[in-house]
Amino acid sequence: MILSIESSCDDSAIAITEIATKKLLFHKKISQELEHSVYGGVVPELAARLHAEALPKILEECRPYFGSLKAVAVTSSPGLTVTLVEGVTMAKAISIALNIPIIGVNHLVGHIYSLFIEKESEFPLTVLLVSGGHTQVMEVKSLEDIKTVAKSMDDSFGESFDKVAKMMNLGYPGGPLIQELAKGGDRKKYNFTVPLHQSPLIAFSYSGLKNSVRLAVEKAEESDYRDIAASFERVAAAHIIQKLKKYFKEVPPKKFAIVGGASANLYLRSQIEELLKPHKADLLLSELKYCSDNAAMIGRVGVEMYEKGLFSSLDELEVCPKSV
Ligand code: KG4
Ligand code: ZN
Repeated sequence: MILSIESSCDDSAIAITEIATKKLLFHKKISQELEHSVYGGVVPELAARLHAEALPKILEECRPYFGSLKAVAVTSSPGLTVTLVEGVTMAKAISIALNIPIIGVNHLVGHIYSLFIEKESEFPLTVLLVSGGHTQVMEVKSLEDIKTVAKSMDDSFGESFDKVAKMMNLGYPGGPLIQELAKGGDRKKYNFTVPLHQSPLIAFSYSGLKNSVRLAVEKAEESDYRDIAASFERVAAAHIIQKLKKYFKEVPPKKFAIVGGASANLYLRSQIEELLKPHKADLLLSELKYCSDNAAMIGRVGVEMYEKGLFSSLDELEVCPKSV
């Protein structure tokens, strides 16, 4: 079995995955959303302190598996340095104490493998990753052959929802809150410009849209917020759809997947379903509970890396805030 740890942002999670069957045997996550909600976003130092409390609590519950562990996998990049350190330090201690190898896992690869926690599928896949830290399209041929073909030049899709929610004093994380508020709103009421709509670039940008929404919020009454939320959600998704449309002209999709915390967004999902119809491409989604950060996806990658012998040395495994 493999024990896996995730602490790249504001979720403390540990999983146990069986190597032979790739089955998830145990998973527990303690989210810090409530604690960060009053600040309208994640406060890194607070997040690190909360990981230091939560991770040992979850680890206690894994005691029965200790004798069967063959390796420990841990998210080592990308993420918040101070929170990644909490998971990596714990993983190193486990590796030393149990005399088992350590595997450093890239969080973004973890999100891709969230697709395979409960069901198997095959590469190649075109993957849209939408999370709090990333908005990118990747061509994935295998664990070690992942090519990023488009990414955000500034804010990410999920982050823009968090920031809009903060402007409206709704709390954190903003994605589900804006989605809920948008349900009752008029999507056409505000005519925000779709980012980069005249640019030939296949890339994403959310800072301009965020600023347009800020101006609208400043002028609006609270009763207008749902129309602003609905219009913002429409344009945020339209941006992705326009760029994917352009990309699909060059590389038509066969199998397409949406992963990451913001892949829970129902409006985005429905728009992408429509976009894929003429291509007759399959759409893969992970279970809702594995869209947001979790350790099950890190364990799933851990199994693949274990089988390929992709271990890290204790001295060399360092955290890295940027994706490597
Ligand atoms: O993948 P994730 O849990 O953490 C990162 O790796 O960033 O993603 C969290 C992000 C947050 O920005 C959150 O607001 C966003 O995903 N999110 C959503 C929705 N649910 C979560 N964004 C839009 N619509 C949603 N329904
Ligand atoms: Zn994530």
